Amino acid sequence: MKRVLSGIQPSGQLHLGNFSGAIQQFVELQADHEMFIFIASYHALTSVRDPEVLRQNITQVATDYIAFGLDPDLPHVNLYRQQDVPEVTELAWLLACVCPKHMMDKATSFKDKTAKGLSASIGLYTYPVLQAADILSVDPDLVPVGKDQVQHCEITRDLAQKFNHNFASEDNPVFRLPDYRVREAAALLPGIDGQKMSKSYDNTIDPFMDEKPLRKRIMKIVSDATPLEDPKDPDNDTTFQIFRAIAGEHDPRTADLATRYRAGGLGYGHAKQELFELVLDTFGPARQRRAELMNDPGYINKVLADGADKARAKARSVLDKARHAVGL
Ligand code: TYM
Repeated sequence: MKRVLSGIQPSGQLHLGNFSGAIQQFVELQADHEMFIFIASYHALTSVRDPEVLRQNITQVATDYIAFGLDPDLPHVNLYRQQDVPEVTELAWLLACVCPKHMMDKATSFKDKTAKGLSASIGLYTYPVLQAADILSVDPDLVPVGKDQVQHCEITRDLAQKFNHNFASEDNPVFRLPDYRVREAAALLPGIDGQKMSKSYDNTIDPFMDEKPLRKRIMKIVSDATPLEDPKDPDNDTTFQIFRAIAGEHDPRTADLATRYRAGGLGYGHAKQELFELVLDTFGPARQRRAELMNDPGYINKVLADGADKARAKARSVLDKARHAVGL
């Protein structure tokens, strides 16, 4: 079985961008891959400064992963918290020592996040090194992510290569270079204002919201001023892009909606109502499951403890190999 690793930061409520760019891939891949899916709690410390909020977010992300369909009852699916695998931070140091400073200078996430007002800490600056350690710690074949994480995956491959070049022979490398995968139909899902859907832009759609505020939120999605009776271009419309990402590119409902956009006579308000109904329909079971899981913290804690045991065993063996290679 090939191995998969990916993670999400517990920096706020998960949204449709996280689902369609990342979690949907996890749910598909778990059928025939060994999964290491984690909650990037150390990474969230670059933005969350309230310990109670962080604790709650961590539990919420664990709950939501399972509500969305990740199944930790499968023996090959491991869900864990980053802080339960401290080997990752040691590995991050070994990688930091082969990471040229200019590699971090080029990383766009530091610039984007500080431009949005996030504190310019060393943790934020070296964030991609920690992400490389997360990834390499379980020696995965594949990292499924949204498009905004592609640069971090490339940095991971570069650091693995630099480390191997310095400390290992070509026929016996310490790290394999993992592939990454982006789902094209939802590579970068737009939010209600048309920009990338992101917790920090306050433009997200949270499929677990109560129905009334959820509908209100969807009705606020930007649209142009094309009159109701005129033909519209679905590919340039945010409502349609979100619909396509959730229903699926090849789903007949997506083709049908695109045809009605192009024919004219379909108002944006109507398209938004259809999106609202699609969200309720698609996430109905997840909403129910989430409500049940929130009453079962014992189950979540057990899942996280088991996942951490498995991830830790894997990370220990990778770290031992890397320590030995550098002379420790
Ligand atoms: P984060 O927490 O911002 O997002 C989690 C996942 O959701 C995807 N995503 C999106 N995909 C499509 N459209 C969007 N609007 C959208 N917004 C978010 C992200 O691409 C990501 O796949 N640095 C990572 C967390 C991380 C990680 C890792 C990921 C830490 N270590 C190791 C993979 C492997 C992050 O901030 O993702």
